[in-house]
Amino acid sequence: MDFDNLPRHIAIIMDGNGRWAKKRGLPRTAGHAEGAETFRSIATYCKEIGIEYLTVYAFSTENWKRPAEEVSSIMNLLEKYLCESIERMERDNVKMKFFGDITPLSPKLRQLIERTCEISTHYDGCQVNICLNYGGRDEILRAAKLCAESYAAGNADAFSEDVFSSNLWSAGIPDPEIIIRPGGEKRLSNFLLWQSAYSELYFTDTLWPDFSKEDINCAIAWFQGRERRFGGI
Ligand code: FPP
Repeated sequence: MDFDNLPRHIAIIMDGNGRWAKKRGLPRTAGHAEGAETFRSIATYCKEIGIEYLTVYAFSTENWKRPAEEVSSIMNLLEKYLCESIERMERDNVKMKFFGDITPLSPKLRQLIERTCEISTHYDGCQVNICLNYGGRDEILRAAKLCAESYAAGNADAFSEDVFSSNLWSAGIPDPEIIIRPGGEKRLSNFLLWQSAYSELYFTDTLWPDFSKEDINCAIAWFQGRERRFGGI
């Protein structure tokens, strides 16, 4: 892996927590807890090697269909993670943002998210984007509505790619050069549908809680071997 030629933006679908737990005879929630630890160590590693943006899929607009007990355990984990992060942010110099509509979340979680974002404005290290109640289609529809409003207000350029992108949660952030999906499935599952137009897609059977620095190094090395043509020749 060439540390001088890193992608600016890496996105990850953190999949396989449930199977990791099942293999060990543990409840699925134990898999999510281990997945949150993996997230912490991968985010720290990405910051150390100089990745500018890391975007992770923590909870999708479809994940509400899971049993209430599992949903609440993921929300509790997020609360715990954010409480700890707020304490550690100064030391870690990690900037956090959230993609997705947070209004259906608990008041406590929303408050923690707002506090985290507020503190984040003081830091300029790796920017970690946590996708929470996020869906790619939902994001595109929201952006389309904003563009339509702008068009109705007289902005004839409201439907350009630039204006459309500026209405996405990821406004101002370069598209991910690579999307990594551990857990064996080969699909995007409604993740970053607009932003993934030219992303390289890396799939591995490793389950997310087992995903290590070596695994991310392998993904980056694979990415560095790709020829990216963006529709040219
Ligand atoms: C997918 O695995 C994982 C999720 C839907 C939840 C991801 C949440 C975390 C890693 C914990 C909290 C995150 C942060 C950022 C602190 P799955 O349950 O679908 O796995 P399976 O396919 O093996 O069942």
